Amino acid sequence: MKSRIEELEAAALTALAGAANLAALKDLSVEYLGRKGKVTALLRSLGSLPPEERREAGALVNAAKERLTAAFEEAEKRLAAAGDENPEDALDVTLSGRPHPVGGVHPLTRVLAEICDVFTRMGFGVAKGPEVELDWYNFEALNFPPDHPAREMQDTFFISEKVVLRTHTSPLQVRTMEKTAPPVRVIAPGKVYRCDSDNTHTPMFHQVEGLVVDRGIGFSDLKGCLTSFIHRFFGPEIPLRFRPSFFPFTEPSAEVDMGCVMCKGKGCRVCKDTGWLEILGSGMVHPAVFENVGYDTSVYTGFAFGMGVERIAMLKYGIDDLRKFFENDVRFLAQF
Ligand code: PHE
Repeated sequence: MKSRIEELEAAALTALAGAANLAALKDLSVEYLGRKGKVTALLRSLGSLPPEERREAGALVNAAKERLTAAFEEAEKRLAAAGDENPEDALDVTLSGRPHPVGGVHPLTRVLAEICDVFTRMGFGVAKGPEVELDWYNFEALNFPPDHPAREMQDTFFISEKVVLRTHTSPLQVRTMEKTAPPVRVIAPGKVYRCDSDNTHTPMFHQVEGLVVDRGIGFSDLKGCLTSFIHRFFGPEIPLRFRPSFFPFTEPSAEVDMGCVMCKGKGCRVCKDTGWLEILGSGMVHPAVFENVGYDTSVYTGFAFGMGVERIAMLKYGIDDLRKFFENDVRFLAQF
């Protein structure tokens, strides 16, 4: 009798393990534990045993029945938790997967890297400096005297009387020359800040500064260097013009315009019908700046330039609103 009970329990557990869904489980439950089931039949057969064996066998069958009942409940929970009556349907291998979108490089980061790439190929080093800057580096050493009207142009954020958020990357000219003896050939990319906000201005934007100092550097070097840069960056067919301008730290100074990439010079909204786009400021380093860093002005000359990265990125990719760069709309960013 004992072995019959054990065999029946083992058979029930094996069948249970193979039950693929709730319907199969229910059938098994009827087969073993139902009113006409195998366990019930076994209990009924106890009556035919001699009285001295009946007691012990009865306890064994009841214990087995309890264990099986528990095992069936367990299996029912497991199959119900699988969420679907039929596990073959629960795992639909033909469903498309959940996409994990791949991130990309921000268009400004990309353009900044491309600008740096063009200049490093021309032999420039890359310098970095602080965004919270002393008045000395941002203005004074660059030949902006304390009450000079040119400070007006810069919409400065002041941290204190002598500390500002840098309004341009030109402080890197001074910081670089303080640390290095000539010759110097360096670019300085980074964030700059001006208290200004509309569809062509954001309070934070990016510039790349450039500085070249050596014996015998002339305006022709400036023209040659910037022309090569623009031709490599936008294509060799782009026309350029150098227009006289003013910066306290360069003399003579020039702003550089390139032929409008949108209308090819015919005149459009982007170039305000002039056919030209202003893309950078430049000039020969003012001797006063050299004196502030202890360079011998009778030996060395140099040129400097500064360009806005957002502007260059807008022209390169035909983007019409500067603010798009900073909204972090993935639908915009994903295009690059
Ligand atoms: N720092 C100037 C600006 O932000 C640009 C510039 C840089 C002009 C270097 C001349 C030389 O407007």
